Amino acid sequence: MELIDGKLISAQVKAELQAEVEKIAASGGKIPHLAAVLVGDNGASETYVASKIKSCEQIGFKSTLVRRDASTSEAEVLEIINQLNNDPDVDGFIVQLPLPDHINVDHVIEAIDPKKDVDGFHPINIGRMAKGLPAYISATPFGVLELIKRYNIETAGKHCVVVGRSQIVGLPMSILMQRNTYPGNCTVTLAHSKTQNLKEVCKSADILVAALGKPEFITADMVKDGAVVIDVGLTRVVDTTKKSGFALKGDVKFDEVSAKTSYITPVPGGVGLMTVAALMYNTLLASKKEIYK
Ligand code: GUN
Repeated sequence: MELIDGKLISAQVKAELQAEVEKIAASGGKIPHLAAVLVGDNGASETYVASKIKSCEQIGFKSTLVRRDASTSEAEVLEIINQLNNDPDVDGFIVQLPLPDHINVDHVIEAIDPKKDVDGFHPINIGRMAKGLPAYISATPFGVLELIKRYNIETAGKHCVVVGRSQIVGLPMSILMQRNTYPGNCTVTLAHSKTQNLKEVCKSADILVAALGKPEFITADMVKDGAVVIDVGLTRVVDTTKKSGFALKGDVKFDEVSAKTSYITPVPGGVGLMTVAALMYNTLLASKKEIYK
């Protein structure tokens, strides 16, 4: 069993981005600028956004945080998006999800200029990705692909089972793994809460991507010997022994599953750390106008 080290790989990706920003700065080019919009006071969102802003500082990107309280109207959020769309200094921006219930998330995402949609959530980016056209690929699937690539994990002809059909992770992951490229060329099964014989389906996976958001759901009896297991789950569970009062749990019961695998991502220290690195990568692409010329 080899542990896929998200901490190591995310640090490598960030170091590569930092080196590129130094070159851009030395030649007088434009410094990449990421903006983040945070509405409300969701604890996990605060942590994620803080880590995105901190990563910008580490790499040498410019960053802007737009904060509004939970009572902010949808119209006000749409106006902030309009301003960011039209601000020539902002290369890319994200609106942190979840939003307060009175705001329609689809209205918000569709208001973002696809050229600045470094989260890759806009239907135009999802559609372009599905067609194999240049597109921003959302951070979690992008992070998973990068881990597979940097560990030279074979994917062609393999059976990849993705468990969970979320718009942000499961759905794009399933599309990306069947593409005629590397990583890709898998036979893909997208399993979800209505899948019959889920245990058998999972057990037939050469590559198992767990993205259902149920802590320790995937147990050893669901995993084939020698499988590659990618754990996208990141759920806060109460843990009074921790200073924060919670522990982070993946979707995989790591202690019993890991011994059966050829490669596995830990939680924490796996996919989660890659997502911020992926967002930074997309921001650099945006500033260089690599996706939309
Ligand atoms: N909430 C959970 N994951 C994400 C993400 O990747 N981007 C944004 N904007 N919100 C999220």
